[in-house]
This record gives sequence, structure tokens and C-alpha cells, in this order.
Amino acid sequence: MANKLSDKRGRKDRFHRQARSEGYVARAVYKLKTIDEKTGLLKQGNNVLDLGCCPGSWLQYADKQVGPSGHIVGIDRDEPSGAPGRARIIIGDVFEISAEALLAELPHFDVVLSDMAPDTTGIRSLDQDRSEALFEHAYFLATETLCMGGHFAAKLFQGRDFQNLQKMCRERFERVKPMKPESSRKKSIEQYIVCLGFKG
Ligand SMILES: C[S@@+](CC[C@H](N)C(=O)[O-])C[C@H]1O[C@@H](n2cnc3c(N)ncnc32)[C@H](O)[C@@H]1O
Repeated sequence: MANKLSDKRGRKDRFHRQARSEGYVARAVYKLKTIDEKTGLLKQGNNVLDLGCCPGSWLQYADKQVGPSGHIVGIDRDEPSGAPGRARIIIGDVFEISAEALLAELPHFDVVLSDMAPDTTGIRSLDQDRSEALFEHAYFLATETLCMGGHFAAKLFQGRDFQNLQKMCRERFERVKPMKPESSRKKSIEQYIVCLGFKG
């Protein structure tokens, strides 16, 4: 049977094949790579927080971008198989982790990422509501832990609060834009809201 990464004939898509050949644990890496290439999100020496980091392709990419002087903290309910050895991993639910606990790992973050997705039910409005709740919580943690000028990029299923949530982001960031990287499947309602320049 064809799985999520394959078409109806069971063939893997090109991003999946590319991820495997480049040593990434998930095709999701190309969503972050596109966002980063278009916005300059990640820089050498950055401290990065990755919410919903399993299986770990964003950690792998961020690790390369921040270099040896940068630091990465990842959180997920599951253990990420692809986490670079030097990444600090917290296993748990983001709703149960305080901003203080995150700041105990590193004194501040330059970039907060969230690729968190709810366990989908197939009921579109319910999935959208759950995605919005994850986005809002990621935003809350970002605004509590980012340094001035820091960046936040997070997945959000397009739902009824899509515009309102962007408006909320504009209050605390200089620039906010929705992005749909090529590697995000066209039929998926996911978008990434990229927020640059935290105003404090
Ligand atoms: C699409 S995957 C992330 C893929 C990842 N960016 C990568 O490149 O490997 C979404 C992840 O969000 C995590 N997640 C969803 N809700 C969460 C929550 N409340 N707390 C922690 N992790 C959560 C899931 O466990 C899942 O591993």
C-alpha cells in the first residue's frame, strides 16, 4: 500500500529521494531549507529552539546552518532518531513545558521553529482548531524566549483564524509573511507563518 511519502503506485516523491540521498531523516527538511533560503532565518552562532522536532530533519539542517558556535534545543513527545549528537533534546508535550524550563537550557533563543502538527482526525475544522492551538502555544513560547530581533517560523493549517493569528504576530514582529514551500504538498492545507524581527 502506498504510504504518506509515496504516490498511488508506491513511488517515493523527489523530495523523499533527495532527503535520503543527502542524509536527512525526513523530506520536511526542504520546507525549512526553502524558508531559510528566502528569508535568511538561520545564521552561524544562533541558538535555535525546534518545537515538534521528530524525526529530526530540521535539527539536522539547523545544526549545519548555525555551525559549531550555535546551539540547538529540540522538543517532541517522541525521541528524534535523526538528532545531531550535540543537540539538547527534551522529550515531552510542549503544553507541559514552561518558558522558564526552556531558558534553563539556553539563556535566550535567536530562532524558534515549530513544525508541530496535530494528530489529524480527518475532520477538517477540528484539525484546523488543533493546529491553531499548537501555533498559538508555539507563538507564546517564542515571545517568552526570543531575543530582540529574533525570528519565529511555524506551521499553521489554514483555518478560520488564519488572518487573526497573523495579525497577532504583526504586533510583536517587524515582518510577517505566510509561505508555502514547494515541498509542502499542494493538497495540504499547511502554511508556514514566518515572523522576522522580534520587537520584544
Ligand atoms: C511533522 S512532524 C515534525 C517533523 C520535523 N520538523 C522534522 O523535520 O523531522 C510533527 C511533530 O510534532 C510533534 N508534536 C505534535 N504535537 C506536539 C506536542 N503537543 N508536543 C510536542 N510535540 C508535538 C509530533 O510528535 C511530530 O513528531
